[in-house]
Amino acid sequence: MDAAGAGIGAAWRAASQRIDRLDARLLIEQVCGVTHADLIARPETPLTPAQAALLESLVARRAGGEPLAYLTGRAWFRDLEFLVTPAVLIPRPETELLVNLAAERAQRLETPRILDLGTGSGIVAITLARLCPFAAVTGVDFSPEALAVARANAERHAPDVRLLAGDWYAPLAGERFDLIVSNPPYVVFGDPHLERDGLPFEPQCALTDGIAGGDGLACVRSIVRGARAHLEADGWLLIEHGYDQAERVQALLLAHDFGEIRSWQDFAGIDRVTGGRRQ
Ligand SMILES: C[S@@+](CC[C@H](N)C(=O)[O-])C[C@H]1O[C@@H](n2cnc3c(N)ncnc32)[C@H](O)[C@@H]1O
Repeated sequence: MDAAGAGIGAAWRAASQRIDRLDARLLIEQVCGVTHADLIARPETPLTPAQAALLESLVARRAGGEPLAYLTGRAWFRDLEFLVTPAVLIPRPETELLVNLAAERAQRLETPRILDLGTGSGIVAITLARLCPFAAVTGVDFSPEALAVARANAERHAPDVRLLAGDWYAPLAGERFDLIVSNPPYVVFGDPHLERDGLPFEPQCALTDGIAGGDGLACVRSIVRGARAHLEADGWLLIEHGYDQAERVQALLLAHDFGEIRSWQDFAGIDRVTGGRRQ
């Protein structure tokens, strides 16, 4: 594709032959600094050679399966736009369930302390901080690169969120919370899904525990095991998990003396979050 000198409308048509039409539109808008309205009303607006070259490389990467969010550096979660880089998982709409369940519980408390384990881009911690303005929210992640993204997102949307580096509860010695939430890595290592739908471009440490022959639940086990020491009495632990893991997560919570254990379904009717209350 040689879009230099050609109009943005022609570039959109050409790109749409190679990638999804909406993705093509969003890339052109980003590269050329134009709006959807400009594309329709002024399709003859020329691309500079630099814009044409950048667009060509982004279209080629998208055609190669790289997720759009990594190409634009942006993704939406609920009503907020977040910075994303290949160091963080791209926000998934299913995670709204985890946030809604957590917000419902936190909003019943005056000044809840909330912990988000495996915060990644920070979407869960930051959205909860905005939904519960009196909450003290902490996010933890062991990836310094992910935490840098979370910090940039927090600065923009919820500067009071505290972000700590470490292995699950390691940076939280002696601290207790009213609510612990997590969307941990839970895909079984070696699952063929990890090879599809853009997943090879996402950080593998965000998707899977990396344990060959495991059941994908090593991170969930660590989180459940450590929860009692960091939850107040009656505090909730809410964990997002895979489509077939609800029963096993319930059993883990039961084995660790949690009460009121149950699972909740996402928009697709799939058990997606399981939680329990510290007795
Ligand atoms: C599935 S991603 C969730 C990211 C974000 N909370 C979301 O919902 O989009 C899991 C996150 O857990 C982090 N993680 C994995 N193992 C960890 C560990 N042992 N300690 C702390 N964070 C960990 C990964 O770096 C990744 O950011």
